[in-house]
Amino acid sequence: MIDVKKVRQDFSILINHPQEIYLDSAASSLKTKEVVNLINYYYDHLGTNVHRGAYDLSQQTTALYEKSREKVAGFINAGIDEVIFTRGTTTALNTIAGSFREQLKPGDEVITTELEHHSSIIPWMMATKRSGATLKYIPLTDEGRITVENFKKVLTSKTKVVAITYVSNVMGYITPLKEIIRLAHEKNAIVVVDGAQAAPHLRMDVKDLDCDFIAFSGHKMFGPTGVGVLYGKKSILDKMEPYEFGGEMIDTITKDSLKWQEVPTKFEAGTPVIGAAIGLQKAIEYIDSIGYENIHQHTIKLRDYTLKKLEALDGLTIYNKTADIGIITLNINGVHPHDAATFLSENHVAVRAGKHCAHLIADRLNMGATLRASFQIYNDFDDCDALIKSIKETRDFFNQF
Ligand SMILES: Cc1ncc(COP(=O)(O)O)c(C=O)c1O
Repeated sequence: MIDVKKVRQDFSILINHPQEIYLDSAASSLKTKEVVNLINYYYDHLGTNVHRGAYDLSQQTTALYEKSREKVAGFINAGIDEVIFTRGTTTALNTIAGSFREQLKPGDEVITTELEHHSSIIPWMMATKRSGATLKYIPLTDEGRITVENFKKVLTSKTKVVAITYVSNVMGYITPLKEIIRLAHEKNAIVVVDGAQAAPHLRMDVKDLDCDFIAFSGHKMFGPTGVGVLYGKKSILDKMEPYEFGGEMIDTITKDSLKWQEVPTKFEAGTPVIGAAIGLQKAIEYIDSIGYENIHQHTIKLRDYTLKKLEALDGLTIYNKTADIGIITLNINGVHPHDAATFLSENHVAVRAGKHCAHLIADRLNMGATLRASFQIYNDFDDCDALIKSIKETRDFFNQF
């Protein structure tokens, strides 16, 4: 059980803006005080680079930075040297596609879905375009789900990569990943998972999933912006060429030869996002202290409550009534979602409007732009009521013309 009043005390934004009804956590969750405090500690007390200084302050910074890596590794059940800090999911997914495109050739196939966020699909569109490989899509069900059955229809011995989301940021569906990964491995394909929307809602155990790569962002899981994680299996990372080049990732260099550092350093060229990476460990500790089961139950309870009341209203189209996480994607009929979101904002209700950087699914399901309300542990039934009331008012206002 989540004590929302207590939880809200963990987030300065909600203390500083008590009137705000924040229902856009799928875009960016709020950050805990502890996360911000540790980042401030880094800037106020350490402020130095990592892995570069023999002096005490740099050693302390390195220790905190590496402690965060250790935390992430434990969090996803990975080895420490399988955790690479990136700027976010986008950078992580580009790193993999950027490296693998060198190995793809005409005749090879990459499988993806129309459910992907642009950061999961565009890197592979570019990789296949540049290499001459073919990009294939898993046919979605009518409600927009990925199924194992449909995956089998596109998987072939030519499949080299499967780039797939764990949880859809528009529909809130959870992909049946384990079976898809098992089948992909039977064909020796690698599976790259976009875990951006999974990280705030469910335990991602990389050993249990057996995925080859998974990417996620700190800012969607109560952590800082500017840091993300790329997990990769050590055996693959060892063989993979880095995508970015620069300082620290080089072991030896002569005028015409290079030897990379070991993983993960090989993939962290230049000065990393030190403060944010340090802060991430506090977000992980926070999730562990709350527990994924509690997060899931709470957000689903808010979703169910809201959905029931919205379904009783005329003039709405709700697109994801069977979502597996706490998000609702809808339209007020005849009202552009940007107008609606602006109206909602007048009542301090913050939701996302648009195609959510996932245009293919918006087009595939003929939704166009939509409103998306996403729930987190700091939301309560009052927030749901405010959303419902504002949606009703918006509908009535536009319907009078
Ligand atoms: C499913 C999904 N994948 C990838 C991303 C990209 O994450 P970031 O912008 O943190 O790189 C997002 C962000 O909205 C997302 O929802």
